[in-house]
Amino acid sequence: MMEELYIISGVAGMTGSELAGTLVGKGSRVIGFDNFFASSKEALKEIEDNDHFSFYEFDINNKGQMAQIKNQAMAMKKEFKRIIYINCAAVVHTEHFYHIDRTFETNVMGMRLFLDQAIEIGADIFINCSTSEVYSMNSWKEGGVSEEDYLLLANAEHSQRTSYAAGKLMTEFFMRDAVINNKIKGCSIRFANVYSKKELYPKHIIPHILMQLKQNGCVELLENSRKNKRTFLHNIDSCMAVLALVHSPDALDGSVYNVATDEEISIIDLTLFCAKKMGIEKPQMVFKGYRESDPERRMLNTDKIRNRTGWRPRVSLAEGIEMCIRELEG
Ligand SMILES: NC(=O)c1ccc[n+]([C@@H]2O[C@H](COP(=O)([O-])OP(=O)(O)OC[C@H]3O[C@@H](n4cnc5c(N)ncnc54)[C@H](O)[C@@H]3O)[C@@H](O)[C@H]2O)c1
Repeated sequence: MMEELYIISGVAGMTGSELAGTLVGKGSRVIGFDNFFASSKEALKEIEDNDHFSFYEFDINNKGQMAQIKNQAMAMKKEFKRIIYINCAAVVHTEHFYHIDRTFETNVMGMRLFLDQAIEIGADIFINCSTSEVYSMNSWKEGGVSEEDYLLLANAEHSQRTSYAAGKLMTEFFMRDAVINNKIKGCSIRFANVYSKKELYPKHIIPHILMQLKQNGCVELLENSRKNKRTFLHNIDSCMAVLALVHSPDALDGSVYNVATDEEISIIDLTLFCAKKMGIEKPQMVFKGYRESDPERRMLNTDKIRNRTGWRPRVSLAEGIEMCIRELEG
């Protein structure tokens, strides 16, 4: 009997693809699906022919396709000691956050159907990827915001951006409810600013800066970037956080875990840092456009996951940026 069967939604995305590669490499069986909303098959090329991996170009909102995943999981169930569902599928990027319909169906309804499926087939664990966006305009304080801090969401009069956070917050309640009613074990993760060397989405800040530097040594930034600071989490570390939680049974209590680094950097310094690494002495920066309700800082306290699982970020920002540059320069 094999140890673990993983069912991963959004498997071609940054965290999903790293998870699938790592798990298949360790001999686990992985079934994954993605509709390529923000990714491509390229992210899976190293494992697409591996016998331990099955991929489906499916949409989490398509009931017929999800029934096929369910039937396959059911049929394989008795060959495995544990079945683990990981929900990475989501409409993630900032430009969509302000449009409620774009995020609601996949992030809220899709998650709910996937959780129901895990419960129906008797899966052991469900990991729900939520977001640090739930901290909204209160995204930092001395020592970082922690899971038990009260949330002060911007309201509907203030910004539609909060609809994304409100939807993800709802998924945290679904997760917790399922665990406290003994339907499954699991938890939610609030990631902050994940990046990857394979990232395709050119509007994400790190690929955006690197691409523009490569093209013409000039980077167009939002007005917000004159002040904004962020921490950045490499997808190797987001993946390791998921696995640390999966293998820490006491942590799977339905609660929420912040996952981020402590390496805060301003967007201006990030641009200068990337330029220096690419051998560009004086990069030009042009500031255009403004994003409302964009927190100036986002600093998470990660003591909870560190104490309960031993997880800590391993990839420094300098190492991560170097990986991205090597990939870009081929
Ligand atoms: N990237 C970040 O900065 C960040 C921050 C906080 C939380 N998260 C959360 O982490 C999880 C993983 O995100 P990621 O960082 O890998 O981002 P990602 O965009 O790289 O991955 C999400 C994947 O989901 C897929 N997807 C979208 N809609 C789908 C649908 N209807 N059916 C099937 N697949 C669909 C996309 O094509 C993509 O491959 C998500 O739940 C996201 O909300 C990410």
